[in-house]
Amino acid sequence: MSDDTKRKIAGIDLGTTYSAIAHFDEYGKVDIIPNSDNERITPSVILFEDDEVIVGKIAKNQAVSNPENVVQFVKRHMGEPDWVRVINGREYTPEILSAIILKRIVSDAEDQLGEEITDVVITCPAYFNDNERKATTDAGKIAGLNVLGILNEPTAAAIAYGMNNLEKEVKALVYDLGGGTFDVTILDVKGNNIQVLATDGERRLGGKDWDDVLLNHVAEKFMDEHDIDPREDPEAYQDLVIKVEDAKKSLSKKPQAKIFAQCAGKSLKLSVTREEFQELTLPLLEQTETYLDVVLKKAELNWNDIDVVIHVGGSTRMPAVQEMLQRVTGKGPEKGVNPDECVAIGAAYWAAILMVREANELKEKVDAGQATEEEQQQVEVAQAAVEEAVPEEIVGMLGGVVVTNVNSHSLGIGTVLPGGRRKNLIMIPEQTPLPAKVTKVFGTAQDNQVSVEIKILEGESEDPDECVEIGTCVISDLPPNRPKGSKVSVTYSYNEDGRIEIHARDHETGQEVSTEIRRDAQGLSEEEMDSKGEEIARLLEEGPEAVYDQGYADQGYDDQGYADQGYADQGYADQGYADQGYADQGYADQGYADQGYDDQGGYADQGGYDDQGGYADQGGYDDQGGYADQGGYDDQGGYADQGGYADQGYDDQGGYADQGYDDQGGYADQGYDDQGGYDDQGYADQGGYDDQGYADQGYADQGNEDPGGYGYDDPGGYGYDDQGQYAEDGGYSDSAG
Ligand SMILES: Nc1ncnc2c1ncn2[C@@H]1O[C@H](COP(=O)(O)OP(=O)(O)OP(=O)(O)O)[C@@H](O)[C@H]1O
Ligand SMILES: [Mg+2]
Repeated sequence: MSDDTKRKIAGIDLGTTYSAIAHFDEYGKVDIIPNSDNERITPSVILFEDDEVIVGKIAKNQAVSNPENVVQFVKRHMGEPDWVRVINGREYTPEILSAIILKRIVSDAEDQLGEEITDVVITCPAYFNDNERKATTDAGKIAGLNVLGILNEPTAAAIAYGMNNLEKEVKALVYDLGGGTFDVTILDVKGNNIQVLATDGERRLGGKDWDDVLLNHVAEKFMDEHDIDPREDPEAYQDLVIKVEDAKKSLSKKPQAKIFAQCAGKSLKLSVTREEFQELTLPLLEQTETYLDVVLKKAELNWNDIDVVIHVGGSTRMPAVQEMLQRVTGKGPEKGVNPDECVAIGAAYWAAILMVREANELKEKVDAGQATEEEQQQVEVAQAAVEEAVPEEIVGMLGGVVVTNVNSHSLGIGTVLPGGRRKNLIMIPEQTPLPAKVTKVFGTAQDNQVSVEIKILEGESEDPDECVEIGTCVISDLPPNRPKGSKVSVTYSYNEDGRIEIHARDHETGQEVSTEIRRDAQGLSEEEMDSKGEEIARLLEEGPEAVYDQGYADQGYDDQGYADQGYADQGYADQGYADQGYADQGYADQGYADQGYDDQGGYADQGGYDDQGGYADQGGYDDQGGYADQGGYDDQGGYADQGGYADQGYDDQGGYADQGYDDQGGYADQGYDDQGGYDDQGYADQGGYDDQGYADQGYADQGNEDPGGYGYDDPGGYGYDDQGQYAEDGGYSDSAG
């Protein structure tokens, strides 16, 4: 950020199938920012063309003809440590793909508004676990955004409702059925005091499943007719995906829809009635219905207690959903809440709330005389930022907003019971209001134990294998020389975002000791996120060809990042790794080049070129002070082990050593050439050429003096001396002897 006070906030609903972004407009109202096609929601679909990366409608439509270059439903893979999508030989993680979507949505919005968006809240399903939330936050950071917070989608919907109904006190049920996820939440909304009472849902249930049911139905009819399965033909399949979704949507308005399926030159015209569709998808609907009772029970309420039912997500447009909700809850959908937009709108409010809150907290601290000098400076920046980003007339109201979420997963730790059985010991049960924390005291198991490792689990089961292992909490730097059984207090907490935090104290001294959560899904470091962010920005501006394939030799250029075969300019730079690099295959500027060229201090494994101080393992070139193991070239002071060229240094076999030592048969310019090589000033041991010095067998240019001061030509050789004579037999010495 160039100017700290110039802030612009937005709320982003990063959906499985569609995403939306909202902000405070010039009238102080929260509104959706349309995309460059003037649509209020954008398909969360990415198309990778050679010269362009496209997000949105065009990408969604291209999914038919170009399935291998289209990425969809990324959200379903958030937080999965091993999931990547490979496009043109390059791997993309869920965070990177989500960052591409975010970046496009934000830059479109910036174009519309004519100003830069700096701070955002991104929403996620209520039951996203810690890893999934971390992945969502990281995606935002990679997209270059300051992520103020992560907000649960149903809570966002309730905030959007609450901010427009400040005078009301209601119990609200949010039924959110989107494209890929489903959740039910019951909240207590008293104007700007919003409390989540209970929440539950299904991570992989959404409109897409309704589409799939219809698609399978059509495919089976097609097979009955033509004996061909259109699901097995990628193009026909993608074509059907689009057509069934369209048919599904029109069945929300009309009693009947037509689908025209085509595959392998055959076609089928099919008519589906709403009734038929509802019958086919009834099991899905019933699945959502069971959660209504579950959540009601968790909230300890009856249907009579529910005042308002808020429909969220495009799939709530299906009449069957509306009828079911009416039947179960006794209430119709809350008017004035747009199911596609309310999540982004709630997120924009939340961004403002967090910003106002931060400024207020700082100010209180300053007023109470408890602030550090740094905080005193920050308070003005924070207040200026609020003034910039939040309409004046609602700052007071937002400052008073209280939102209490609950955790949707129990937080536990892995323990081993006497007898060896492993157990998940629950620390913070699900549905606990957030933030929540609990402290547990552990005793060390051994004398002088200075670190403790504890498995962190999310889930309800006692069996650790049925829980999600978030990672291992490593407590280190405990005071040494304490006896076994010394106590450590460990505090586990869920913060307001639903993220897990862990703190530990030495029980005796009360001193904080360091803790770290080691996760399976480690994600990227801050620097890597920055460099990936730049890569993504260029990818969207210039397209993959320009970013990856430009210029260098035959196989591409990767400016920042990972070049699988190609040229990586700063790429894994600080930690970069180029798999097959330079010369014909690529370049890694700083870091590690597996086969290739490594510019600074890194390591080039095979045949590469290592520019500074690094290490070139085989046949490579090592420019400064490094080490070239086989046949390479070592420019200064390094060491070339076999047959290479060492400019100043040591060349072990047959290479060329400019100043230094050449062990076998090579050429040593000043130094020592052990066997048969050429030695410019120094000593050539066998049969070589020695320019000034001593040639044990062979040719000596000047000198040829042995320690004794007389020229020497070893018996039997054909010595030659430049300033003297030639000895045909037995050698000759010019100036001495
Ligand atoms: N009129 C309609 N009738 C039926 N379904 C619809 C209608 N309009 C949209 N949908 C469906 O709604 C889904 C998209 O909803 P939404 O944009 O709320 O989901 P999302 O935010 O992408 O997903 P999630 O919230 O699960 O991450 C799609 O499956 C779409 O087919
Ligand atoms: Mg959604």
